[in-house]
Amino acid sequence: MEHALEAILAAIGSFFIVTLLLALLILFCQHRSSTKAQTRTSQIRTRPLPNRHTSLSMVDARWSFDPNLEISWEELARATENFSPQLIVGDGSFGLVYKARLSNGTLGAVKKLSPDAFQGFREFTAEMETLSKLRHPNIVKIIGYWASGPERLLVYEFIEKGNLDQWLHEPSSNDDAFSNDLLRLPLSWETRVNIIRGVAHGLDYLHGREKPIIHRDIKASNVLLDSEFEAHIADFGLARTMDNSHTHVSTQFAGTIGYMPPEYRDGVHVANPKVDVYSFGVLMIETASGHRPNLAIKLEEDDIGMVQWARKMKEQNNEMKMLDVNMSREELREESVKEYIRIACECTGELQKERPEMPQVVKWLDSMPL
Ligand SMILES: Nc1ncnc2c1ncn2[C@@H]1O[C@H](COP(=O)(O)OP(=O)(O)OP(=O)(O)O)[C@@H](O)[C@H]1O
Ligand SMILES: *[C@@H]1O[C@H](CO)[C@@H](O)[C@H](O)[C@H]1NC(C)=O
Ligand SMILES: *[C@@H]1O[C@H](CO)[C@@H](O)[C@H](O)[C@H]1NC(C)=O
Repeated sequence: MEHALEAILAAIGSFFIVTLLLALLILFCQHRSSTKAQTRTSQIRTRPLPNRHTSLSMVDARWSFDPNLEISWEELARATENFSPQLIVGDGSFGLVYKARLSNGTLGAVKKLSPDAFQGFREFTAEMETLSKLRHPNIVKIIGYWASGPERLLVYEFIEKGNLDQWLHEPSSNDDAFSNDLLRLPLSWETRVNIIRGVAHGLDYLHGREKPIIHRDIKASNVLLDSEFEAHIADFGLARTMDNSHTHVSTQFAGTIGYMPPEYRDGVHVANPKVDVYSFGVLMIETASGHRPNLAIKLEEDDIGMVQWARKMKEQNNEMKMLDVNMSREELREESVKEYIRIACECTGELQKERPEMPQVVKWLDSMPL
């Protein structure tokens, strides 16, 4: 009897030890692969896994903001010259974006989700449901959508100068496959601050709604620039609406490497507006410095992450040395740069509760010296 008890206890004991070891091993591997992924050059975006039941439920749908504007497959095929490769202006993760001449003569952008991109269904639903409710100068305007069977088309107003990522990291577009005959010169300090202000106003609007909307994928390629270099936030495929009855929504982890807050790394996958505030702070540092957020930066022989780098440079009073080397220094005021970096560092606080809310950020940005 005693032997049997001993044997059972021993078995339970060893089971726990093996489980613990396995768990540690899995955690270690996950950590390894995530730190490895961060050093890659290409932008890697993590998407939640599709839910088979919700994603296929929507079959036929169409909507047009303007009743005089026809949104149909035939009309959009005509507007994009049968989805001509020459009219491609963007290559998103779930489909191509085409420049289109709409029936009333204005330019539009048509996003065609690839029918085989299974995840795209959920993105489409999130994007059309969220965006069709929003009207703000710093949020891209959706004009209509069309869905039938596996095909999904979204129509937006056309934003002329493409995305901020291209302006920061691809200075000239002469040999660019998606060239739109633009020569991209380095943006001035004033333009960069103005773009950041626009994004802040757009985010403030999203977070300040009765049912706050969390974008969850704020990054340079999701900020579109119009002819006046005003910012328009795009891509609401990951956005989530917060219900009044809940202070937060628990969701699968999603976002883009380099812009994701530290709490994600610790396994907290609760969608909170402070997630956007962090990504926005990263975007601020990227916009000022021209560094890519997913790449390490060398500082005193060490390779460190961009947020850590910004904090160190600020501590050492080196804000001016953070700026994009290709940016003009004419009429650049140090007090402006210092205040900008201070705001960026506040937004990228380690803890959610340390980060300011968007109304505060907007106030700081609107009153900072230029
Ligand atoms: N309304 C628009 N006007 C002009 N260009 C646009 C418009 N919408 C999208 N684009 C271009 O197409 C690109 C991809 O669009 P979008 O980000 O919406 O797609 P996505 O599939 O979610 O892509 P990603 O995964 O890269 O964020 C944008 O970065 C931009 O260059
Ligand atoms: C065409 O329709 C779009 C979408 O409603 C609208 O934004 C645009 O102003 C219209 N253009 C003209 C010339 O009426
Ligand atoms: C600065 O411009 C040069 C030449 O156009 C380019 O090769 C380089 O990548 C740019 N540097 C930055 C930080 O943008």
